[in-house]
Amino acid sequence: MNAIFERFKKTGIIPVVVLDDAKDAEALANALCRGGLPCAEVTFRTAAAAESIRIMHEKFPEMLVGAGTVLTTEQIDQAIECGAEFIVSPGFDPELVKHCIERGIAVTPGTQSPTDMEQAIKFGLDVVKFFPAEPSGGLKMIKAVAAPFTNLQFMPTGGINASNVREYLSNDRIVACGGSWMVKSDLIREGRFDEIEKLVSEAAQIVREVRG
Ligand code: 3PG
Repeated sequence: MNAIFERFKKTGIIPVVVLDDAKDAEALANALCRGGLPCAEVTFRTAAAAESIRIMHEKFPEMLVGAGTVLTTEQIDQAIECGAEFIVSPGFDPELVKHCIERGIAVTPGTQSPTDMEQAIKFGLDVVKFFPAEPSGGLKMIKAVAAPFTNLQFMPTGGINASNVREYLSNDRIVACGGSWMVKSDLIREGRFDEIEKLVSEAAQIVREVRG
């Protein structure tokens, strides 16, 4: 498996963040590192995404920083230029996957159906996002679709939180879970980084308990 996905596996939970203002990126990255999840999927839902990636990558070189909600090849190029080490998209867009492969960056496209997963396999991918995880059938669905795709591993995201993440992490086809519950936008906006650090360390503790 790609070295980036080995790091996904080690971290266990990938915090999905939405930053309205890049000035919060450093404090957020600090809370993530201190809390024990030195990783962030910074979503391109706001104009602050690229600059936030750059700040996190430069100030916390030990962190694994990637870009999420990526919808265009321009965003991929921008994310790479800012130091992103992985790309996540909500759905399966062959053009984006091809571009990531050509640029040599790890990509976790969103999949929801066996058809999406077959496409991912055709591109040589062995890790896909399963999105939106809970509304799409959760772990039960993953177990069912994982059966025919014996080499595929999953990063479920969407509706995962402190109360259900344990069961996902216990399954050996799950590389990591994506989630925003410990890095909610209102906590970031209000500067409540101590609270974020506490939620992150609780999440990191769950990963340790389940995966050792
Ligand atoms: C999202 O859509 O914001 C991500 O998939 C994270 O989902 P969540 O907010 O349900 O954790």
